[in-house]
Amino acid sequence: MCGIVGYVGPQQAEGVVIEGLRRMEYRGYDSAGVALVHDGEIAWDKRAGKLANLDKSLGDQPLPKATTGLGHTRWATHGAPNDVNAHPHLGATGRVALVHNGIIENFAPLRAELERAGHELRSETDTEIAAHLVEAAVTEGHSLTEAMRQVCRRLDGAFTLVAIDAHDPDRVVAARRNSPLVVGVGEGENFVASDVAAFIEHTRDALELGQDQVVTITREGVEVVDFDGNPAEGKPYHVDWDLSAAEKGGYDWFMRKEIHEQPNAIADSMLGRHDEQGALQLDELRISEDELRGVDKIIIVGCGTAFYAGLVAKYAIEHWTRIPCEVELSHEFRYRDPILTRDTLVVAISQSGETADTLMAIRHAREQRAKVLAICNTNGSTIPRESDAVIYTHAGPEIGVASTKGFMTQLVACYLLGLYLAQVRGTRWGDEIAAVVRELEQMPGHVQSLLDRGDEVLALAENLADARSVLFLGRHAGFPVALEGALKLKELAYIHAEGFAAGELKHGPIALVEKDVPVFCIVPPQGRDFLHDKMVSGIQEVRARGARTIVLAEEGDDDVAPYADVMVRLPKVPTLLQPMVAVVPLQLFACELATRMGHDVDQPRNLAKSVTVE
Ligand code: F6R
Repeated sequence: MCGIVGYVGPQQAEGVVIEGLRRMEYRGYDSAGVALVHDGEIAWDKRAGKLANLDKSLGDQPLPKATTGLGHTRWATHGAPNDVNAHPHLGATGRVALVHNGIIENFAPLRAELERAGHELRSETDTEIAAHLVEAAVTEGHSLTEAMRQVCRRLDGAFTLVAIDAHDPDRVVAARRNSPLVVGVGEGENFVASDVAAFIEHTRDALELGQDQVVTITREGVEVVDFDGNPAEGKPYHVDWDLSAAEKGGYDWFMRKEIHEQPNAIADSMLGRHDEQGALQLDELRISEDELRGVDKIIIVGCGTAFYAGLVAKYAIEHWTRIPCEVELSHEFRYRDPILTRDTLVVAISQSGETADTLMAIRHAREQRAKVLAICNTNGSTIPRESDAVIYTHAGPEIGVASTKGFMTQLVACYLLGLYLAQVRGTRWGDEIAAVVRELEQMPGHVQSLLDRGDEVLALAENLADARSVLFLGRHAGFPVALEGALKLKELAYIHAEGFAAGELKHGPIALVEKDVPVFCIVPPQGRDFLHDKMVSGIQEVRARGARTIVLAEEGDDDVAPYADVMVRLPKVPTLLQPMVAVVPLQLFACELATRMGHDVDQPRNLAKSVTVE
């Protein structure tokens, strides 16, 4: 949520900053702005709306050349998304420019204090107070670093701040608490940003920062201190993907590219995680086998799509390990006072590794002495850093706001975790585990075969273009897939879409079914005969009430054909793994329908990727 970038070096800062913002626009697109240090002054521009508006404005009225600058792309929290509330914000005299990601919770008393002291605040944001406070401190003679440190100690809430001082032209200072910030380490130039995507074009060497730290970048180097001024160190790491991964590569949308990257993403997530016999090896896990044997309950937490991956995981983990497994929305978790002990394993699923709700959930779990394992796609992010163990998903950067390959690889990681627990605890035989691993190894091919038949889904989207409401039905592991299919459609096509457990229909939701309402039905493999038959009955029930049924069923399942207006054939896979194939046509459908409706698929309205506020 909100993308911020700062640069100091020999290049034209405006170009570096704007390119950085372009690569981070998925984090927020309500407004964008840039500020540069030029000739002892701050030169700036900021515009409501997407980055294109700022681009146009800069084209009409270029800013002066400068080699130090910062920028921001906003997802609005305090104050409407207009030009005035856009970042950067300036201090009272315009000497300091500052951008912010997060929420300053005690902004009201600080604003009142500034107003009493005669400061005139122009915007409705919480950010502007930080700009005034930092500027007041540098005006008193403190360095920008010292000023930032002093101000941060007075702020409550979550924030990443980046500031420049017109009187100190070769320095950018940034700070973080509960909000993402990484440093890009270049040669004779350095960067700060919410995300490595902002500087991947210039360097793949990054520094991970800890909580409550202030970083100062100059051309010569990077200096880190904590909020009390004690020297600190960032943790260096090398980004294992390059610029091409952060670009569309010929696709119209990042989302479409990411859907098509899924076969590779699955293969990469499996790489090195089992031996030739199919025995699991999760070397990076950092929780001992003894501790895993002692686990008596698993609680999976996540939000949105990550939560749905957790729901699928429950079916697999309980079946393979017999450990009771709960799945909970991260933001509900800590407020209900969950029962946690040293033997509880909390699994936090998060593509970005920065979702504030999930971060707060794991902090609560660790305070109660539970062990926390993160399933995450983003190296250097906060959630894995604050967890006892991590399984990285290796999907590469996910830039489309709607998660696709993130979900797919979360499923892989959940299956690997379940199988590993079964191996360590001896609840499944080695050959049973190896058989599932072999099935997982087949998944890239299965997903590719569905992608190759993408035209079928395109035709479906054309036929259903007028639908105002779409329902999704599933049972067992197909139920979370129904929820995920509905979420994709809601967020991209902005139409009413709901997922149901098919058995629940008759308890109320069937009242929604009327003539021609499209209902996607995810049919379990025929091998699960009782589940399969119950699902077929559910399909008959909606069809009897006039629904148009789009039935996703495995190859060779003819029992269901008479009740399908449209058949989407799925590769034959075991029931527990079926979500990996069933979700693909639903992702494609949402992408096609939204494209047809003229929506911006990568940047749906009101949303942002990486939700860093609670
Ligand atoms: C939906 C979507 C969101 C995220 C959710 C959690 O397409 O992308 O529902 O899944 O905001 O995000 P992470 O996984 O980054 O914690």
